Amino acid sequence: MVNTSWTPSGWRRLPIKQQPIYTDQVKLLDVEQRLAQLPPLVLPNEIRRLKRQLADVCEGNAFLLQGGDCAESFAEFSDQNIRDFFRVMLQMTVALMYGTGRPVVKVGRVAGQFAKPRSEDIETIDGVTLPSYRGDMVNGVEFNAEARVPDPERLIRVYQQSSMSLNYLRALAQSGYAALSTVTQWNKDFIDRSPQGKHFKDIANRINECLVFIEACGLKLDQIEQFNEADFYSSHEALLLNYEESLTRRDESDGGYYDCSAHMVWIGDRTRDLDGAHVEYFRGIENPIGVKVGPSMKIDNLLKLIDVLNPQNTPGRLVLISRMGAEKVGVLLPPLVRAVHQAGKKVVWSCDPMHGNTIKSPNGLKTRPFNLILAEIRSFFEIHKAEGTIAGGVHFEMTGQDVTECTGGAQAISEVNLKDRYQTLCDPRLNGSQSLELAFLISEELKAQ
Ligand code: PEP
Ligand code: CO
Repeated sequence: MVNTSWTPSGWRRLPIKQQPIYTDQVKLLDVEQRLAQLPPLVLPNEIRRLKRQLADVCEGNAFLLQGGDCAESFAEFSDQNIRDFFRVMLQMTVALMYGTGRPVVKVGRVAGQFAKPRSEDIETIDGVTLPSYRGDMVNGVEFNAEARVPDPERLIRVYQQSSMSLNYLRALAQSGYAALSTVTQWNKDFIDRSPQGKHFKDIANRINECLVFIEACGLKLDQIEQFNEADFYSSHEALLLNYEESLTRRDESDGGYYDCSAHMVWIGDRTRDLDGAHVEYFRGIENPIGVKVGPSMKIDNLLKLIDVLNPQNTPGRLVLISRMGAEKVGVLLPPLVRAVHQAGKKVVWSCDPMHGNTIKSPNGLKTRPFNLILAEIRSFFEIHKAEGTIAGGVHFEMTGQDVTECTGGAQAISEVNLKDRYQTLCDPRLNGSQSLELAFLISEELKAQ
C-alpha cells in the first residue's frame, strides 16, 4: 500500500535529535544533490527479499543474526577487516543453524554504519571544549577544532566506502567462499588454538557428514543454490536523514519508496520520539526497519510506534531490538512482550545484549563483560519461552579482528588486558573468538530447548 501523504523530505518539518550542526548549508545541499544522482546501493527487490525472510523469522521459521561494528570508520577500512568479519558471521551462522535447525538471516551492521548518537553534544579535555565526535560520517575523531567541524563531504565518502564494502561482501557471498562444504577449511588456525575451535570442528564435521549423505543420495551439492550462495544484507542506524533521503528511491514496480542506502535500517533508542523527524521518515519507507527498545520504553508508547511504523501489521516489516541490560531485562521486557503479543502485533523480537551492559573499567575504558552479554541473551530466551512468543534473533557489536574490548569469554580477557588491542572508536565489540563462542553457547541453549 502506497502512503500518499508521505514524502521523503517530510521529516524536515519536525523536531530532530542527535544531528550535527552544518555551518555550510550550501555545501550540504550540493552533497545531497550529488548523492541523489548516484546509483542506489541496494535494490528494492533485495529489500523485499529480506522482508520475506524476516517474515519467516517472525513466524519462527528462521533466525536473525545481525552484527558488525559499533561504528565503521575510514581508517579501519581494509580487505582483511571485511573478509574476517564476513567469515566470523558465516561461522556464527553455521553454529546457529545447527542449534536452531532453522535458516539464519544474516544482516551486517556494515556499509553505512558510520553515524553515532552521543550522550553529550560537547566534549571537554583539559579545559578545551569541542563538539563531540559523531562518527566518521560527521566529523573527525581527533581532538582539535578543525577535525570536529561537521563536514557534509563525509556523506559522499560514506557512500563510496559503503559501495566498496557491499561490492566485496556480495562477491564473497556469491563466489563459493560461503559454500557449506568448505566450512571446515575456514580459519584452521582458530580451530587449532581455542577450545571453542575444537567444538566448532565437531559441528563442522557433523555438517560435512550430512553433506556426504546428501551427495550419496544422488543430489549434486554444487547445483543446489542454498548451499553455495549465502544471502547477506546490510543495515545501519539511519541517523542522518539528509543522507537517507538522498538515497530514497521510488520503485516503479510497486510505487513504494525504498531507502536504498541499506536493506534494513533502524531507529536508535534516543531518536524514536513519536512526533520526531526519524519516526516520520521511517514510516514512509518500505524497508524492514528496526526499533531499539531500551529501558525507558513504555507499553503505550511501543504500541503507538508499532501502529505508526507498521499500520498493515505486515510480518517482516518491524524488528524490535531489545537492549535492556542483563540486570533489568527480567523486569522490563516481559510486560512489553506480553502487551505486543496480546495486541496481535506481528513483530520480530531480537536481543541486543551490548548496549545495556556497558561499564567503565577502572582504567577508564568502556567495556562489556562477556558474562553479562550472555546473561541478557539467556534471559531474553527464557522470557520468550515463558510468554509463548518467539525469540527471533540477536544483534551484536562485533568484529572479526582479535581486539580486546569486551572482558571475559574463553580467552579470559581481563580489565588489565583491555588496553592491549583496544581499537574501537566508539563502543566495545566482541572479538572474533568471543563472537563465535557466543554463537555456540546460544546454539546449545536453543538445542536444549
Ligand atoms: C547502536 O546500536 O550503536 C546504538 C547507539 O544503540 P542504541 O540506540 O540502542 O543506544
Ligand atoms: Co554502539
